[in-house]
Amino acid sequence: MARQRILSGVQPTGNLHLGNYLGAIRNWVETQSQYENYFCVVDLHAITVPHNPATLAEDTYTIAALYLACGIDLNYSTIFIQSHIPAHSELTWLFNCITPMNWLTDMIQFKEKSVKQGENVGVGLLDYPVLMAADILLYKADQVPVGEDQKQHLELTRDIVNRFNHQFGEVLKLPHPMIRKEGARVMSLTDGTKKMSKSDPSELSRINLLDSADEISKKVKRCKTDPIKGLSFDVPERPECQNLLTLYMLLSGKTKEAVAAECQDMGWGQFKPLFTETVISALQPIQQKYQEVRADKTYLESVLREGREKAAAIANQTLAEVKAAMGYSVPL
Ligand code: TYM
Repeated sequence: MARQRILSGVQPTGNLHLGNYLGAIRNWVETQSQYENYFCVVDLHAITVPHNPATLAEDTYTIAALYLACGIDLNYSTIFIQSHIPAHSELTWLFNCITPMNWLTDMIQFKEKSVKQGENVGVGLLDYPVLMAADILLYKADQVPVGEDQKQHLELTRDIVNRFNHQFGEVLKLPHPMIRKEGARVMSLTDGTKKMSKSDPSELSRINLLDSADEISKKVKRCKTDPIKGLSFDVPERPECQNLLTLYMLLSGKTKEAVAAECQDMGWGQFKPLFTETVISALQPIQQKYQEVRADKTYLESVLREGREKAAAIANQTLAEVKAAMGYSVPL
């Protein structure tokens, strides 16, 4: 039987943090041998908020290199850059014309991000989920592994499939969100009720995959805790405790029961150094591999060139099917 297909992506906005890793990339790596996988760097999404043209290309390469450094294996997975395949933009336009405006104005991320942009909010930010739907549907993906914050965008993608197939015939495949329980919503280090985010103005709120040991140590020392001694999971009034124990569990590879037993009598003064060491040693192999990949630009370029060829073949085929279903003539 053919393997199910997976598609996912990350935006090249700044560095990747533990939320991106534990909510998305680490899960891609863990299941990649069971699927046919496509992982893109979504650089068209990156310009939906003001961006820096001087760093966009380098940031895009950084994310592609981090995919490899985190363990994406080219025997199972294809890595490519979204903007290198024009079908993503073209399908977005076709979907724009069948997507009701209010589906987009209702999106939580649009509401949150547009507040920050004020009067300058661009049409691209509103259209962001339609582009995301095009990313997924071009590859007829069965599963889409993402963090919890993308759930609503996946629902919109499914709504677009149903609407399109109803109007034009069964062309598109209905994708399923793949959201793990643990790690799907990593919280900020400075406020356990807020999601860890690239756009938080405080660097102290997140640990980036490329942070040095000193930076990690400083961020953990200053992270928010509470005055209660004894650490335990699942106490709603202790969101920071829940977040830090979950991170410790995921990065140490220990079970929840083992972590609960180990930490039940600890104070923060004992936990923080242990946590710091765990984060540093979990990130060390990723950082080392990242340096190796980054040092060989020819290799990275060849990976992306090959990825583009493989991905474009599938994307162009789907785009042709969509256009035919919508009644477009074939170019002569
Ligand atoms: P981005 O770059 O914002 O996030 C990349 C991935 O990281 C997850 N994530 C988190 N997971 C747990 N805790 C957090 N604090 C946290 N912050 C981020 C996100 O859920 C995501 O899986 N719109 C997508 C990019 C995208 C995409 C796609 C994804 C564009 N096209 C097609 C899947 C399929 C995004 O949020 O990227």
